[in-house]
Amino acid sequence: MIDNYLREINYLRVSVTDRCNLRCIYCMPAGGIEKVLPRDDILRNEELARIIAAASSQAGIRKIRLTGGEPLVRKGLVDLVAAINDIAGIDDIALTTNGVLLSAMGRDLKEAGLQRVNISLDTLDPDLFRHLTRNGDLRQVWRGIETALELGFSPVKINTVVMRGYNDHEIGQLAALTVKYPLHVRFIELMPVGTSNNWAGDRHVPVSQIKDIIELGLGGLESAHRPAGNGPARYYRLAGAPGTIGFISPVSDHFCKTCNRLRLTAEGMIRPCLYSGWEIDIKGLLRRGASETELGDVFRQAVRRKPDRHCINEGWQDDKRIMSQIGG
Ligand code: GTP
Ligand code: 5AD
Ligand code: SF4
Repeated sequence: MIDNYLREINYLRVSVTDRCNLRCIYCMPAGGIEKVLPRDDILRNEELARIIAAASSQAGIRKIRLTGGEPLVRKGLVDLVAAINDIAGIDDIALTTNGVLLSAMGRDLKEAGLQRVNISLDTLDPDLFRHLTRNGDLRQVWRGIETALELGFSPVKINTVVMRGYNDHEIGQLAALTVKYPLHVRFIELMPVGTSNNWAGDRHVPVSQIKDIIELGLGGLESAHRPAGNGPARYYRLAGAPGTIGFISPVSDHFCKTCNRLRLTAEGMIRPCLYSGWEIDIKGLLRRGASETELGDVFRQAVRRKPDRHCINEGWQDDKRIMSQIGG
């Protein structure tokens, strides 16, 4: 569908759970979220499949990304991927994961029809990883990345959120992964969202600086073709590298003009913009027996209400959700 600002909306980010097996400092409070959703409040696989089918047939959604929380902790995720794979009109199914369970689940997911994975990795230092994720084990994630490459997911992207004073000294090392492996390492500006709202400003490193650090340490970056995907990253390559380096700059140079997405939260609300708290309920309607056209109407309303840009510089206004409940 085309929205009021002439953007084509064809990408739906589906949060399949609000739970996570890590506690990244920018995403979750130390104790986890106060109240995880009761199972009944979370959309079931059949419900997700009906909503996605309506999004495809009624609203022109062609690309699905599964997010969380951590999507791999949801029971029945492999069946869900298989069900989405059977929906006419969906031509891209991708997953954003912290990688912890990927070595165990990668093969089944691939066989079910998952095409691509984006894996979060903010540091190569096991102690810092434990600190940033509040007790995560870097080895599990690295095994997940190796598994993704071995299984032939393509492309395999890495998401690195840069935080001054935490991991900015590792930018060169992380960028150098693209020389050794066919990985696409994306450096992401820390956003003031939910848990990170109070401190993101002090820790923020703009993409322009990240780029300078890489070029100073590793040599010039040339523009590169974007690997398959639908997101806002801009891609470059170090000379001779099999992988690419991407930059995602939501704060210093927002990409709202080309935004192509809606979000569906685990409890069944459609959220037209990451940064706007306005949401519209689709689960209630579905559970009251709505038809595909009626579900399509909810998507049409959501697209009509999509704002032209985020107001990140005015601060996070949404006090009901944190990042792990929206799915990045
Ligand atoms: P590809 O299809 O592989 O390009 O995926 P993607 O980059 O859209 O997805 P991913 O889940 O890997 O997101 C990467 C980063 O971009 C995360 O930090 C997200 O929070 C951020 N991001 C994704 N969508 C939006 C958005 O609509 N607005 C803002 N401000 N940030 C976003
Ligand atoms: N700023 C930038 N990126 C974030 N993510 C989570 N919280 C933030 C934030 N405050 C990223 C995660 C993951 C993706 C889904 O969103 O690192 O890669
Ligand atoms: Fe979990 Fe991802 Fe949030 Fe980290 S960023 S706590 S891995 S949902």
